[in-house]
Amino acid sequence: MPLEGVKNIILVLSGKGGVGKSSVTLQLALALTLQGKSVGILDIDLTGPSIPRLVGLEGAKITQSPSGWIPVSVHDAQRVPGDRTGTTTDGSDGAGASTSTSTSTSASRSRGSLRCMSLGFLLRDRGDAVIWRGPKKTAMIRQFLTDVYWGETDVLLVDTPPGTSDEHIALAEELLKISTTETAPAASPATQGLGGLPRLAGAVLVTTPQAIATSDVRKEVNFCVKTNIPTLGVIENMSGYTCPCCGEVSNLFSSGGGEVMAQEMGIRFLGRVPVDVQFGALVEGKFEEGAESDEEEEDGDKMEEDTVDERPLVERYRDCWSYGRFEEFARTLVGDIAG
Ligand SMILES: Nc1ncnc2c1ncn2[C@@H]1O[C@H](COP(=O)(O)OP(=O)(O)O)[C@@H](O)[C@H]1O
Ligand SMILES: [Mg+2]
Repeated sequence: MPLEGVKNIILVLSGKGGVGKSSVTLQLALALTLQGKSVGILDIDLTGPSIPRLVGLEGAKITQSPSGWIPVSVHDAQRVPGDRTGTTTDGSDGAGASTSTSTSTSASRSRGSLRCMSLGFLLRDRGDAVIWRGPKKTAMIRQFLTDVYWGETDVLLVDTPPGTSDEHIALAEELLKISTTETAPAASPATQGLGGLPRLAGAVLVTTPQAIATSDVRKEVNFCVKTNIPTLGVIENMSGYTCPCCGEVSNLFSSGGGEVMAQEMGIRFLGRVPVDVQFGALVEGKFEEGAESDEEEEDGDKMEEDTVDERPLVERYRDCWSYGRFEEFARTLVGDIAG
């Protein structure tokens, strides 16, 4: 059965490319795993699959099993005995037990696993351009949705291409066939468990403060309305700039466009995420986990890395300023999923 074991699906949409959709997807994923959820990222941006690069695993390959494609693991689950955050049920864990931001008591809490599937893993060369016509693209998206063996997964985040193209329509049609949008109380008890249909919880819309990007998000909202996909909220990314020294947020462009738009359209505003240099360095960093990194880029003003930080991505992410924001977004989304 397609998406067997997946309990909830969240789409990440944006009207334009480059607004940080893939970064938001990754950060939501990391924050959710830090709240004990097992998470999958399905990157179906066929023309610019960037998840392999963001997780630092460009060299990784997908393997086949009799049950389907096996996604690439970014980190495994880590269960700390006696810690309740690790429960993968739909209970309201994550709220009370969660600690404040950026305390570096790393391994003291349970975390869920993170796995990814991306066309990028299937392409031989990272520079390989995918120039496919509509039918081939839609066939590939269908295959990505049906042929990946996720196993038990609390949340599957789908990183989509920008816009509302044929791919989106194919995606929506296919998803609505293999999942349900019914909310928990109305759905049968089996809905969110193994053996039941996964729940299409809805879409998170990503925008930047610039008006042009926000006006494009309106199209996304209309797309969701037309396709009956619930909107979970808007995130305004690159909204100001956090000083890497003191953390103070200053506004480069006007900020707040996303919030105004959300209000006007009657959808929830999840919050703002400033440009976070530390996060940029984390995902664009020199070191790659699990791959040889002998290409030493001399980028001068990147963060000084005298000693290579060997911790997994998820642990390094906890040190980023943005983590606090995404911790909140993840908690809100977990609340939605729990019904
Ligand atoms: N809040 C942020 N702080 C710092 N860098 C960011 C932020 N959001 C996005 N980026 C960077 O901007 C670039 C484009 O983001 P990406 O997520 O790939 O956009 P999209 O998926 O919308 O095309 C990436 O290199 C990413 O690291
Ligand atoms: Mg992207």
